[in-house]
Amino acid sequence: MMRTVPIRQPLADARGSVASVACLAEPRASASGLRTGRAVLLFLASMAGAGAATVAADSTRGERLFTSLSCVECHSVNGVGGNIGPDLGRRIDRNFTVASLASTMWNHAPTMWAAMRERDIRIADMDEQGAADLFAYFYSARFFDKPGDAGRGKRLFTERACALCHGLAESIKPGINPVGQWNALTDPIALTEAMWNHSPNMFTEFKLKKIPWPALSGQDLSDLLVYLRNLPSTRGTAGMFETAAGSNGEAIFQSKGCVRCHHSGSSLAPQIKGRTLTEIAAEMWDHAPKMKAQPAHFNPGEMRELLSYLWARQFFEDSGDAGHGKRVFAAKHCEACHGDSSTGAPKLTGSAFSGITMVSALWHHGPRMLEQMKSKGVRWPRFDRREMSDLIAYLNSPGRGK
Ligand code: HEC
Ligand code: HEC
Ligand code: HEC
Ligand code: HEC
Repeated sequence: MMRTVPIRQPLADARGSVASVACLAEPRASASGLRTGRAVLLFLASMAGAGAATVAADSTRGERLFTSLSCVECHSVNGVGGNIGPDLGRRIDRNFTVASLASTMWNHAPTMWAAMRERDIRIADMDEQGAADLFAYFYSARFFDKPGDAGRGKRLFTERACALCHGLAESIKPGINPVGQWNALTDPIALTEAMWNHSPNMFTEFKLKKIPWPALSGQDLSDLLVYLRNLPSTRGTAGMFETAAGSNGEAIFQSKGCVRCHHSGSSLAPQIKGRTLTEIAAEMWDHAPKMKAQPAHFNPGEMRELLSYLWARQFFEDSGDAGHGKRVFAAKHCEACHGDSSTGAPKLTGSAFSGITMVSALWHHGPRMLEQMKSKGVRWPRFDRREMSDLIAYLNSPGRGK
């Protein structure tokens, strides 16, 4: 049985020009003590430009919508729910983005609506907030790190040489805090920050004793944490997995000297594509010994800013090609209605299009669009993920629609 960890409510942080943020909560015990679900709060924004509106998406609300919009009658998420449609938890992979949700929903909508009509299920309205919340729910069902294994964590504590300097309840070396006094047990990022800051101590000691660098994977970090948080001396430590706004990330990336070896945060995106935050944290740890100079010291919270920033770059920057999107817009017949005011289709202007708006527009206007398309003999469009991103980039491109 997995042990559930009490958890503070993740706090929304809506300051500044947020690119995207997520608060990821670890296993959360409900009042009934039965649930081991995870709450996710994502801040989604189109990366299109400054001033883009940010939507705070909450997986708990999304879970409720999944029921109130009747999705649950036909779909299950990880085994719970109906089986007329596919299990959505299983379909969603780690590269799941808002644009990919939008493209699958568009592709399947006519069949889905027919199934709904057959069963007399009303297509209830879904606004942008609803679409964002649903996304957060699907995301939480799939994207999380595997839960930690305390037994493995216990072995790692010795095998990775932590036990060489740290006691559990009592200090075993003068001046070195035992685990019971650590402040860094809230989540993997805080732990990574503390470990990173003391890497110089470790270099020296390890060199002396000829111990290899104690590399850790994301799973190792989770296992270590579950073990350390549930010792007699630490039990009750609040667990919390939160990402920061990431808005200072670029500045930290500069000031910590990452730019000495990496061009920019975005340049790392392909290398860390599809990784969870914990995995990126573990990678940071693993390459501490590769830093030629002394690794920079991180003040409290800076590691979180930096990693959130890197993670958001690779995860949400789903930048499409506006030129190709223009061709998609024509080839899928969008232009035929939306470029001709006599059809009554609104001119799609503005710069706030995202996967989220495409999902809500589909749910909101789709049935009427489908009728019009049928009467004009236009086939319902299908998109792959790339085409959806390109289309969004085109709709957002400056000067279009003027
Ligand atoms: C009456 C049954 C029904 C309801 C209600 C329903 N769906 Fe579906 N859904 C389907 C069917 C059937 C398919 C597969 C359609 C196809 O194969 O083209 C589908 C496909 C999908 C897909 C694509 C899955 C994939 O990866 O292939 C998504 C995403 C989806 N639905 C989301 C939703 C959401 C969100 C809701 C609630 C707002 C919802 N559905 C409500 C029946 C339903
Ligand atoms: C060579 C000795 C040594 C080893 C090995 C070592 N540490 Fe430490 N650790 C220290 C020292 C010294 C400090 C405190 C001084 C500092 O922060 O630089 C410290 C501090 C910490 C802190 C911050 C504690 C606080 O008070 O909040 C954490 C967390 C930590 N270590 C985790 C680990 C983990 C996890 C491992 C195993 C991967 C490990 N350490 C291995 C020497 C070591
Ligand atoms: C002295 C050069 C150097 C500096 C400084 C440096 N890195 Fe790296 N980094 C590397 C190398 C080399 C790799 C290639 C992967 C490897 O072999 O570990 C890498 C890889 C990475 C990766 C991807 C890991 C992967 O699996 O490909 C991340 C993330 C990363 N670095 C982040 C950072 C951050 C954040 C900083 C600043 C705190 C930083 N790096 C500073 C040399 C550096
Ligand atoms: C047959 C005509 C027709 C075609 C083809 C068509 N649409 Fe529409 N679209 C409409 C109509 C009509 C509305 C407004 C529906 C309503 O108000 O309920 C609409 C609404 C929308 C909206 C919501 C706009 C808003 O202001 O909220 C979006 C987004 C959209 N369409 C995108 C597309 C895309 C992308 C394509 C191509 C894949 C497309 N449409 C193809 C007729 C069409």
